[in-house]
Amino acid sequence: MDRPYVHINVAMTADGKIDTFQRKGAAISSERDKERVDQLRAAADAVMVGGRTLLDEDPKLTVKSEALRAERVRRRLSPNPIKVGIVTEAILKTGSDFLNTGPANIVIFTTRWTSKHHISLLKSRGVDVYVDNTEKVDLPKSLETLKQLGVERLMVEGGATLNFELLRLGLVDEVTAYVAPMIFGGANAPTMAAGSGLERGEAIPLKLVDAETWDDGGVFLKYILERSI
Ligand SMILES: NC(=O)c1ccc[n+]([C@@H]2O[C@H](COP(=O)([O-])OP(=O)(O)OC[C@H]3O[C@@H](n4cnc5c(N)ncnc54)[C@H](OP(=O)(O)O)[C@@H]3O)[C@@H](O)[C@H]2O)c1
Repeated sequence: MDRPYVHINVAMTADGKIDTFQRKGAAISSERDKERVDQLRAAADAVMVGGRTLLDEDPKLTVKSEALRAERVRRRLSPNPIKVGIVTEAILKTGSDFLNTGPANIVIFTTRWTSKHHISLLKSRGVDVYVDNTEKVDLPKSLETLKQLGVERLMVEGGATLNFELLRLGLVDEVTAYVAPMIFGGANAPTMAAGSGLERGEAIPLKLVDAETWDDGGVFLKYILERSI
């Protein structure tokens, strides 16, 4: 494959929402799920987020557990996976957690909407910046670049628009979801896949390979994409 193995992970409510209508990054994961997500990050070569999640929530995307970071170092890896942002206009605050919490290599895929000034600023912070001459980031090309950078396993941590685009383009191998025992409702609250949507005949088939009920009241689901079975 000329792209990494791509794994989307989400935490969602029983009504499929990954945030409330307020879009402030509502907490959904249980403690057990947070540990699972940390293990996934530690097992990944890179962790990717979409532009809205990156700019609005400024995620650290680092491995929280010291033991897991040490384990990566024992495997001669950086303590944290590469942080990857897919962002149309990359106006990141220089003091942001995304840029400063590490150590971690950072890769930003952006478009011509990002000014030369902001590109230089990011490069001066040691960020690898790739600029597409397009309206939105060219995702197949970005994944190819990540593969060339040595990324074999990519974890995608949302949000809704990026998840959908990757799925629509057939670039996803696995989807895992922690379904928390709560409902957010809200027509404008994001679900795990947003974007333009698909007609019924174009629905993306999934194969359920694991389903667990957890004693925190949540459910863990693991799907693989039919084309990678
Ligand atoms: N519960 C969870 O597991 C979880 C995880 C992460 C995020 N979230 C939630 O998800 C929400 C954010 O999701 P979102 O859908 O608004 O945004 P998103 O998926 O984080 O980012 C999408 C944005 O990235 C930019 N982009 C550039 N090229 C793209 C491409 N080829 N494909 C897709 N996006 C591209 C676009 O920015 P422009 O519009 O500027 O062009 C696009 O709107 C937040 O509420 C956050 O809390 C939840």
